[in-house]
Amino acid sequence: MTESQVIKVSEAAAKSTLTDAQKAAEMRAIAKEDPEGFWSGIAQRLDWSKPFSQVKDVSFDADNLRINWFQDGELNACVNCLDRHLPERADDIAIIWEGDEPDDDKKITYAEALEETCRMANVLKARGVKKGDRVVIYMPMIPEAAYAMLACARIGAVHSVVFGGFSPDALASRIEDCGATAVITADEGVRGGKTVPLKTNVDKALGKTNGVRLVLTVERTGANVSMQAGRDLFWFGEARNDVSPECPAEPMNAEDTLFILYTSGSTGKPKGVLHTTGGYLTYVAYTHEMVFDYKPGEIYWCTADVGWVTGHSYIVYGPLANGATTLMFEGVPTYPDASRFWKVIDKHKVNIFYTAPTAIRALMRERDEHVTATTRASLRLLGTVGEPINPEAWLWYYNVVGDARCPIVDTWWQTETGGVLISPLPGATDLKPGSATLPLPGVFPAIVDANGKTLEGACEGNLILTGSWPGQMRTVYGDHQRFIDTYFKTYPGSYFTGDGARRDEDGYYWITGRVDDVINVSGHRMGTAEVESALVSHPKVAEAAVVGYPHDIKGQGIYAYVTLMEGEEADAGLEKELSDHVRSEIGPIAKPDLLHFTPALPKTRSGKIMRRILRKIAENEFSSLGDTSTLADPGVVDTLIEGRKNR
Ligand code: WTA
Repeated sequence: MTESQVIKVSEAAAKSTLTDAQKAAEMRAIAKEDPEGFWSGIAQRLDWSKPFSQVKDVSFDADNLRINWFQDGELNACVNCLDRHLPERADDIAIIWEGDEPDDDKKITYAEALEETCRMANVLKARGVKKGDRVVIYMPMIPEAAYAMLACARIGAVHSVVFGGFSPDALASRIEDCGATAVITADEGVRGGKTVPLKTNVDKALGKTNGVRLVLTVERTGANVSMQAGRDLFWFGEARNDVSPECPAEPMNAEDTLFILYTSGSTGKPKGVLHTTGGYLTYVAYTHEMVFDYKPGEIYWCTADVGWVTGHSYIVYGPLANGATTLMFEGVPTYPDASRFWKVIDKHKVNIFYTAPTAIRALMRERDEHVTATTRASLRLLGTVGEPINPEAWLWYYNVVGDARCPIVDTWWQTETGGVLISPLPGATDLKPGSATLPLPGVFPAIVDANGKTLEGACEGNLILTGSWPGQMRTVYGDHQRFIDTYFKTYPGSYFTGDGARRDEDGYYWITGRVDDVINVSGHRMGTAEVESALVSHPKVAEAAVVGYPHDIKGQGIYAYVTLMEGEEADAGLEKELSDHVRSEIGPIAKPDLLHFTPALPKTRSGKIMRRILRKIAENEFSSLGDTSTLADPGVVDTLIEGRKNR
């Protein structure tokens, strides 16, 4: 990257920001020299009911793995997000809710949010939910989703939010895995003018699992849904008004679990990423302020769904811990039309806007007038997350959406990391389109080669973290060994991210994407193994292999190679049948974009599928297939190439 492609942060933007280059450099130096002092200072931004005496106790040694932060401290996450702001901000807006329809919105003050949360906590308590119990939240983007999370935090229950786009099967397996005793849902969700039958999906899921004693259903549309006596309760119609608007908060140890969130890995079923209370909340509050340069009174909008970690950390916990106004959007960027985001920005005078590259690419395809017809005058800062952003989309976002006056923070992080690890600091970091730039103060990445050798200077390899940060996940729920094996065995003594990265001569990081069998489809993480297992669970499928391929809007698309059982015919009807099958096993986001019926898959003589070849063919890279001589039947490759050319 040459000097001319570096975007200097404008003086005006730099002045309006909290950090400057010098302050950032100082923070980095302090965090390096005295990490305990540094993090102890950062943790003071929270209210601790009992102060901690030890900052951290960490070892990344796989035989003796320990990750503890602020271990003997006590605090409650809900109190930190709501109660403690009341003396100053009772009447300030905590949540601006923008409904699916443009004329549907609502503003909720901190006092109101606390009351609703306490009521919900009391309903859970009245039904026997107590500290440590797991509660699954399967909700649309309505304020009650945030109350549900905070209500759990208040009484010490562990929430596990399941994205409302997941199928009943996917929901059931998560309920089962975490052993949930309660589910909080809505009658229906509303997105892009269509309804989603959430309560019906819950009923289907509960037909496949035991243990759930309470289904609390928020009436979003008032649709007629079936209710099981003794188990199901309506929120507005029944539960809410019967309980007190006050609820004492459970004092929690810093290392008590706050939530579990399922995410895809390279093998097996999704894993329950577990985050604890003190470190997570410290980290998301710190990063929300640093990365978004958040200042009191500003309107902040993150367009993620609470079903993903971005929604947890940067719609709910981070902003509310900082007393911010967080906007929660129920709809989609293209409904009623492609100007929706920009109109909402003008309507609510949004200052900070955080979205995903896939949305930017999709909106960039529409006419620029959708953007330019709005003023976006309130905007000060833009952000992206979820996948690498291509420089073309970055520049469109910068020039057209931000009128070349708003810095863009390209934030790299993961469900596992709890919060942002690599990102520009607005005002302090010069930007390069497509680069997540530099680690935040207190974060220590490194790049290693395949043998684990640490590379210096400008280089490319695999991205690891050599030390802990408070927001790091603590375990895989119910499978600590999987946690150790997945993250701490590949490069002993370090946390392995699963991502590849390049570092340039200025020390800037460029994330190149996953190096494992995880693909990133529209910013959603998907294990290729999960899609494969959904496909082979269909009676007509003998074998399936799934890989990612470059997709203009989604970043990566899902390419599925399928071999059928003897005697089955490949045709358009079966293609649709298989697509629908994956949809019902996992959800619409897992539907293959391309389905390639093939009589055989390329295998080694020992029967191992050579995925490298399948990836190259899916990418249309026929000339760089590499060595195919170890294949049991090299002729398979030509058949596959012919099949690829036809689509
Ligand atoms: C990818 C989302 C490039 C990466 C917060 C990571 C990114 C995975 C970026 C985690 C970015 C996330 N640039 N790639 N700014 N942000 N990723 O767990 O591959 O849903 O490992 O967390 O998304 O996805 P997850």
